Amino acid sequence: HASPEQPFNLGGSDVADTQSGVTDLKVEDGIAIVTVNNPPVNALGAAVRDGVAARMREAAADPATEAVVLICAGRTFFAGADITEFGKPPKGIPLGELVTLIEDMPKPVVAAIHGTALGGGLEMALGCHYRVAVPSARVGLPEVKLGILPGAGGTQRLPRIVGVERALEMITSGEHVPAPKAKEAGLIDELAPEEGLRQAALDFAKRLVAEGKGPRKVRDLSDKVEAARGKPEVFADFAKANARRFRGFEAPAACIEAVKAAVELPFEQGIAKERDLFLKLVAGTQSKAQRYVFFAEREVRKIPDLPDDTPTLPVNSVGIIGAGTMGGGIAMNFLNAGIPVTIVEMKQEALDRGLSVIRKNYEASAAKGRLKPEDVEKRMSLITGTLDFEALSTPDLVIEAVYENMDIKKDVFRRLDKIAKPGAILASNTSYLNVDEIASVTSRPESVIGMHFFSPANVMKLLEVVRAEKASKEVVATAVKLAPKIGKIGVLVGVCYGFVGNRMLAERQREANRLVEEGAMPWDVDRVLYEFGLPMGPFAMSDLAGLDIGWSRETSKGETLREKLCEMDRRGQKTGAGFYDYDANRKATPSPIVEQMVLDHSKQKGITRRQISDAEILERLIYPMINEGAKILEEGKAIRASDIDMVWINGYGWPVYRGGPMFYADTVGLENVLARMEQWEREIGPEFRPSDLLRRKVEAGETFTGAA
Ligand code: 3HC
Repeated sequence: HASPEQPFNLGGSDVADTQSGVTDLKVEDGIAIVTVNNPPVNALGAAVRDGVAARMREAAADPATEAVVLICAGRTFFAGADITEFGKPPKGIPLGELVTLIEDMPKPVVAAIHGTALGGGLEMALGCHYRVAVPSARVGLPEVKLGILPGAGGTQRLPRIVGVERALEMITSGEHVPAPKAKEAGLIDELAPEEGLRQAALDFAKRLVAEGKGPRKVRDLSDKVEAARGKPEVFADFAKANARRFRGFEAPAACIEAVKAAVELPFEQGIAKERDLFLKLVAGTQSKAQRYVFFAEREVRKIPDLPDDTPTLPVNSVGIIGAGTMGGGIAMNFLNAGIPVTIVEMKQEALDRGLSVIRKNYEASAAKGRLKPEDVEKRMSLITGTLDFEALSTPDLVIEAVYENMDIKKDVFRRLDKIAKPGAILASNTSYLNVDEIASVTSRPESVIGMHFFSPANVMKLLEVVRAEKASKEVVATAVKLAPKIGKIGVLVGVCYGFVGNRMLAERQREANRLVEEGAMPWDVDRVLYEFGLPMGPFAMSDLAGLDIGWSRETSKGETLREKLCEMDRRGQKTGAGFYDYDANRKATPSPIVEQMVLDHSKQKGITRRQISDAEILERLIYPMINEGAKILEEGKAIRASDIDMVWINGYGWPVYRGGPMFYADTVGLENVLARMEQWEREIGPEFRPSDLLRRKVEAGETFTGAA
C-alpha cells in the first residue's frame, strides 16, 4: 500500500504492462486520455487492472502531460470487479492497490462516467480526483447483492463524500443512483452532455490545469463523517430500522461495521478493516450462493436449441382472459412495460371489480411514492375491459387465466382458436395442467404454450414458460425473450404435473402434513422454514391464501386437518382463524383449539406422537424437494439445476443466500441427502425413492450446480 505520505512510486515491480489491447493512452492538449475497452461491461479483470496501472504510470512520468482522464469504451464505465475471478488465485495488481495508485497520482485524474459505474467501478471513480458523468449514467456499490462488501476502499471513501447516512443506505441496498442525484450528493462534480462525455471530461481537465487545481484525494476529506463520530447509535439504529430487509444476510452487518470504521478509524486502518471483512465474506457460503445466483439469473435465457438469433414474433398487444386476481396481476406487468392489454370477462361485475383492483394497486404504489401520480392514469389508459370475446381477434399474445379446470380451459382454447388472428401466441396460465392436452383442442398447437405466473403476479418475479411439445421455436423464443421486458425471470420448463415449482412444492406439503401427524405442530413446521429464511411456512401460507380454496361443505370428507378446519369455519386469515388465531391486525398466534385437533387427529389415525427435532423437520421438508428436483432434471423438464433454483428464489421466496434448493443440496453434501432418502424409503415408503440422478452424482462425486 502506498500511503498518502509516501511520494508517488513509479516503479511497482509487480505490475506488468500487458499490452493486452484492453487499455490505450493518448495525449491531447496536455491531457492523457486513458481508455479501457473490455467488452461487454468493462469488468475490472487482471488485464484491465494491470493495463490501467501501466497507463497511469506512463502518464505520471510524461512531462508533457498535466492531467489524466479515465474513460471506458463500449456501453459502460467499469461494471465492477470481474466476478469470475473471485475464489481463484490472485493475479495482477489488486484492485484496492490500483485505486490507491490512481489516488496518489501527482496530476489530477478525472473519471468520465457513462452507463453504470458499479462496485469496483465506482471505487475506481472514487480513487480519481474528480468525476464527470452523463445524465443517464448510474452509480452504485451493489456488492451487498453478491454477499460481499465494497473491497477496494468504497466503504471508506463513499461516506467521506456523501456522508454516513447516505453511504449506509447506498452500500447496504446496492441501489443504482442516477447521475443527477449523485451530483446533488456531491459524488459527481459535473454533468456532461449525453453525447459529449469525452470532450466534456477533457475540457474539465484543462480547466483544472488552467486554474492550477491539483489532485484532490477523497481519503483526505473528513467533514462529512464528523457528524457521526463518537455516535455508535447511528449505526445501531440503522441496523435496527432495516432488520427485516437484512434478515438472514451476513453482508449488511459487515457493510455497517466497515462504514463505522470509516468514521472512527484513520483511513489506513479503515481500509484494513474493510479488507478483513471482505475476505471473510467472500470465502463464505452466502457469497458463493449469491454470486451463483447472479450468473444463474443470466443463464436462464440460454436455451440450447434456441440460439440467440432464433426469430421471434412481435408482442405489441396482449389479450387476457379472466380479470380475477391472476388475470389482473398479469395485466399489470404488461401495462408497466407500456404494452396495451385487452382484458375479457364474462360478467360486468367481475370486470369492474378486476379493473378497480388494478387501479387500487397503482394508486397504492403512487401513495407510497413508488409511482408518479400521472403514471397511474397513463397505465390505466392502456387497458381495455370488455365482455366481448371477439376482442381477442387482434392481440399478438393472448393469456388465459380462468379457473383451473381442464374442461373449462379446453373450452376457452377451442373458442380462442376460432377468434385469435393467425400467428398469435396462445398461452395458458395453468399451474398444473397438461399444456399439450390444452393445445390439442386447437388447430394450431404450434402457437400454444404455458405462461405460468406466480401470485401476486404483479410482484413475484418468476415466470415459468412451459414448453408444450408442439410449440414452435419462434413461439418459445418469443416467450423467453418477453420475460425480462415485463420485469420477469423467465424459466423454461417442460410439461409435467405442477411443472417445476409446484411439483416440488407438493413434496414439501405432503411432508409438512405428515410431520404434524407424527408429532410436530403446524407452527413448529412454519418456524423452522422461517428461520431457514423463507418468508413463511406452509400453514401460515395456507391461512393467507384461504383454506377453503377448492373446498365445499357438500364434498368435504372431513378427513384432513384442513377439511376439519373449514368445517369449523376456520378458513384462514379472512375468517380470523385457521391453523392460527388472528387478531385485528392479522397477527398470528398458535391456537389451543388447533393444538387439541392435531392431537386428536393423530390418535384417530393410530399414530403415537413423538418429539421431532428442528433439524429433522428441515430435512424432511427439503430433501424430498431436492430429490424431486433431481427427477425433474433427469426427465429433462428443466434445462439445468440452476434453473430450478431460479424458480424457487423468484417464485417462492427461497432465501437468495442459500442459492436455491439444488445449490443448497450441494452445500449439505449430496451423499447426506441420498442417505436420508434411502433411510426414509426403508422406514416410511416408496415416495422417498432416491432419483437415479442423485445416486449417479453421489457415485461420481459430483454436485448439481458445480458452484457450491
Ligand atoms: N464480472 C464478470 N462478468 C460480468 C460482470 C462482472 N462484474 N457484470 C456483468 N458480467 C457479465 C454478465 O454475466 C453477462 O455475461 P453473459 O453475456 O455471458 O451472460 C454480461 O457481462 C452482460 O451482463 P448483463 O447481461 O447483466 O448486462 P446488462 O446490460 O443487463 O447489465 C450491468 C449490465 C448493470 C452492469 C449488470 O451486468 C450488473 O449489474 N453487473 C454486476 C455489477 C456488480 O455487481 N458489480 C460489483 C462487482 S463486485 C466488486 O466490484 C467487488 C469490489 O468491491 C472489490
